Amino acid sequence: PLSAMEQEDAIRQELGSLHGIPLFKSFIEGWQQVKAFQARPDDLLISTYPKSGTTWLSEIMDMIYHNGDVEKCRRDAIYNRVPFLEMKVPKGPSGVEQLENTPSPRLVKTHLPVQLLPASFWEKDCKIIYMARNPKDVVISYYYFHHMAKIHPDPGTKAEFLENFMAGKVAYGSWYDHVRGWWEKKQEKMLYLFYEDMKKDPRREVQKILQFLGKELAEGTVERILHHTSFQEMKKNPAANYETMLPTMMDHSVSPFLRKGISGDWKNHFTVAQNERFDQHYQERMVGSDLHFQME
Ligand code: PPS
Repeated sequence: PLSAMEQEDAIRQELGSLHGIPLFKSFIEGWQQVKAFQARPDDLLISTYPKSGTTWLSEIMDMIYHNGDVEKCRRDAIYNRVPFLEMKVPKGPSGVEQLENTPSPRLVKTHLPVQLLPASFWEKDCKIIYMARNPKDVVISYYYFHHMAKIHPDPGTKAEFLENFMAGKVAYGSWYDHVRGWWEKKQEKMLYLFYEDMKKDPRREVQKILQFLGKELAEGTVERILHHTSFQEMKKNPAANYETMLPTMMDHSVSPFLRKGISGDWKNHFTVAQNERFDQHYQERMVGSDLHFQME
């Protein structure tokens, strides 16, 4: 059983359900405020399923917004520079409160499935960048994240976690529904990116983002952005690596937030049988979709 303090801090609690989506109970408590959130037309939404490159894309976006000024991008931790819309924990301001105190143009982070995005983002016609990552790397990254980030329930064994992930019984629900739901909403105002593309050719992906924003940057500035947002640089940057988070919430000695930062790490974790089962389930869940993933 959890101590009163652990309950108070929302540590290792069971998930609740928000319109059928498993989610942290503390987030669900704040839902009315999130639902009523007032987006501004110049907000840019960074949307992802967890562990798909949110922090990476956030750092890139903040660098673009600050014309590659590294010092300006050290002004605060990434979770304050790009507030997390639906975040609510017992202590401290909620994501919505943080956003209300953020000057425009704002960058907003969310992991919400498309059907739960507050209506205001559609009404105000906000620009949205979605980033997706292949599910095998997501599930491994999520498994390690469960160990270090104590807001999650205990993940159990790797085999158990894999089953829960496939069944959508993890925070934010089914990865399959998430990536497909956002893909189906893809329109002019949305850019859909892949973690694997960003790994292979970050310059090309940053150029895509600049084009989407209608922004031009000098070649040297792009160079600086690519360097500053590399895995190695972000891992040692306290403003990007989450080390400033309360140690009761995240324990980097268990597994660092910036853990490996590669594609295909799942090969070091899946058994042959697990991989076969996963592939079959993937085929079933992705049937009829023109959305394709590079598994490495
Ligand atoms: S969260 O908690 O959902 O917001 O996490 P998120 O930032 O989406 O995902 C964390 C994973 O992204 C990796 N990461 C990076 N990879 C490559 N380059 C850069 N710069 C980078 N920054 C973060 C991070 O290491 C996590 O993946 P894994 O596979 O666990 O290493």
